[in-house]
Amino acid sequence: MVKIAPSILSADFARLGDEVKAIDEAGADYIHVDVMDGHFVPNLTIGPIVVKALRKHSQKVFDVHLMIEPVDPYIPAFIEAGSDIVTIHAEATKHLDRSLALIRSLGAKAGVSLNPATPESVLDYVLDKLDLILVMSVNPGFGGQSFIPAMLDKVARLKSLIGSRPIEIEVDGGVVAANAAALVAAGADVLVAGSAVFKTPDYGANIKALR
Ligand code: DX5
Ligand code: ZN
Repeated sequence: MVKIAPSILSADFARLGDEVKAIDEAGADYIHVDVMDGHFVPNLTIGPIVVKALRKHSQKVFDVHLMIEPVDPYIPAFIEAGSDIVTIHAEATKHLDRSLALIRSLGAKAGVSLNPATPESVLDYVLDKLDLILVMSVNPGFGGQSFIPAMLDKVARLKSLIGSRPIEIEVDGGVVAANAAALVAAGADVLVAGSAVFKTPDYGANIKALR
């Protein structure tokens, strides 16, 4: 069954701890945390101290999406704060192989995210060094944007590139109940959803609709 990772970017930031607890109880598989630096992406969000503060509100997998450049200097702090998966952008590191090795050496799972215009071939020589590929299906920076249809094809290509390796494909941006089935058919294992989960108070029903 497809995993659902609600993005807390669309949560009520004044009550983040309660929001994380609520999506946990509503059936979320991963807690997706969007970290933005106002430089790699045109928005600012949170840092490791917030991840650490939220950690006690859920035992679920903390799926931390770093949209920051440089990224290597901050990886240790996010792992110490309790991140289970640390995903970095291929476009935000000069030495992708080294950044992935750093994440794994500190005991977390290593993910790579690709912006919509980045071809999947950048992963050809690191496939044995990563645990998750995050396909951005909007240009990163904001919740509530529309899904870019060409990303369905990227998911399918990644699926065949991965072969039998134990790598999850996660899709992030503009995921709604209406495109979820097509994404799963193309090969998605995890769907990130911000606005589609937090749009109405019944998070459980919204997660179920996506699944
Ligand atoms: C965008 C973030 C996404 C975003 C998803 O930069 O990485 O996680 O919050 O939000 P929706 O599901 O509303 O597109
Ligand atoms: Zn994200």
